[in-house]
Amino acid sequence: MTVPSIRSLLFVPGDGETKMLKALSSEADAVIIDLEDAVAPERKGYARELTRDLLSHADRGGKPVFVRLNAFDTGMTAVDLAAVISGRPWGVVLPKCAGPDELERLSSYLEALEARDSIESGSTRICSVATETAAATLKLSCPDTSAAHRLWGLLWGGEDLSATLGALSNRDATGGYTFPYQFARSQCLYAANALGVQAVDAVYPDFRDLQGLEQETRVALRDGFTAKAAIHPHQVAVINQLMTPTPDQVEWAHQIMALLADTGVARLEGKMVDLAHKRIAERIIVRAKATGVSR
Ligand code: COA
Ligand code: MG
Repeated sequence: MTVPSIRSLLFVPGDGETKMLKALSSEADAVIIDLEDAVAPERKGYARELTRDLLSHADRGGKPVFVRLNAFDTGMTAVDLAAVISGRPWGVVLPKCAGPDELERLSSYLEALEARDSIESGSTRICSVATETAAATLKLSCPDTSAAHRLWGLLWGGEDLSATLGALSNRDATGGYTFPYQFARSQCLYAANALGVQAVDAVYPDFRDLQGLEQETRVALRDGFTAKAAIHPHQVAVINQLMTPTPDQVEWAHQIMALLADTGVARLEGKMVDLAHKRIAERIIVRAKATGVSR
């Protein structure tokens, strides 16, 4: 199976059928059905059942659908998994991940439930939210884990982390993240790269401010993130557009590939280009192909 290129992942609360159907028919490249913080404690049971039914019966239109589980410290993770895995989600999102031990625990639960429900072993992917506590953010280097084969991506989040740190705000007067959150974001980017998985930028909570979203998505793309999470369908078009390589970038990438076809270093518009640029060019070409951009 070819792995679809995911630029946008739209969160939707797991207890709202209408919104869930809307999310599935939206332009988002992937959907994350949330069983965690968007669902009130007394609605968790209902959300699990609804999510399983929707996964089993709704037309996903080929869209990858993740389910965000409740974190291990709630004691609900296994209950969530046992309820939804028979619906064959494309992947699960583990919030407040404290480290590789939790990824391994999740992977072994998945293995058992895949066997129970006759699902191919190892086929349910994991996206981990790994910057939601201070300890997890500090530990996030290059986790050496036996769950690596399932790991699709790392998502970072600034909201729970500010609650942990007791911050009055996580943004400065220009709307950008303050240093403690830029640090967490960087940890996520480095770790994802080291592991060879997708780096997913955090949600932009002020969903009416599309200009702010655009600015933040540009910064994410500039730094190497390949996708961004969304909380509202309005945010998806901005993210998809910015996360798709532009024709100029694709042209530049092909120029680099031609120039460096049989030499390590060359000159382009008065500047040196070498194998580092070739690696960037290769990434752009792969992403252009995956998102249907031609030269
Ligand atoms: N997925 C699908 N549809 C959504 C949606 C989402 N994430 N967010 C909003 N919509 C729908 C609404 O249901 C509404 O549909 P309607 O016109 O048929 O009534 C339409 O889009 C416009 O919504 P709007 O009125 O602008 O927003 P709202 O006040 O209804 O909802 C939120 C605002 C924040 C509650 C909502 O966007 C949401 O639930 N987001 C996801 C939250 C989440 O999952 N958080 C966890 C991760 S951080
Ligand atoms: Mg959260």
